Amino acid sequence: MGENEPTLYDWAGGEKALTELTEAFYRQVLRDDLLEPLFRGMSPEHPHRVAQWLGEVFGGPKTYTEERGGYPTMLAMHLGKAITEPQRRRWVNLLQDAADEVGLPADPEFRAAFTGYLEWGTRIALANSQPGASPVKQAPVPHWGWGVAPPYLP
Ligand code: HEM
Repeated sequence: MGENEPTLYDWAGGEKALTELTEAFYRQVLRDDLLEPLFRGMSPEHPHRVAQWLGEVFGGPKTYTEERGGYPTMLAMHLGKAITEPQRRRWVNLLQDAADEVGLPADPEFRAAFTGYLEWGTRIALANSQPGASPVKQAPVPHWGWGVAPPYLP
């Protein structure tokens, strides 16, 4: 597809869809036994900021970098949180549930790429959140693409 290949951001429905996604997600997070203790003190802006981060990762505008400071800010928010594997797995599951709830595209190609990023990102977040971790302090915001299964657009 080359230059005509849509970004994951556009395919998902852009900023509006990702904001609906994170709002639905954090509504459930705050009702969840494993995750609520981690998130009970979060800023009301948190869902919107995570939507901005996801948008930037998926090929949308660089608003998280411009408005929040990019990777170092995101990293700092996870340091010392000691995220457990059950919490990580629940986070992934609830975000996938939220994707269904708000009607994000359900085609195999999109969901494979979306879930691939969630697996990758949450495993890094878990590692970086452990006491004594020494993560890379400065890095670019990752840019996630379709991987091996881009949409077939004849
Ligand atoms: C792909 C995986 C993940 C992404 C993209 C992500 C993204 C982010 C971002 C962008 C922030 C900072 C928001 C801001 O600028 O204020 C943040 C904060 C945070 N994240 Fe993550 N995160 C991920 C995984 C996780 C996981 C697995 C957990 C725990 C189970 C977690 C727990 C938190 C907490 C507790 C905060 C701080 C919330 C607050 O007090 O405002 N994150 N995350």
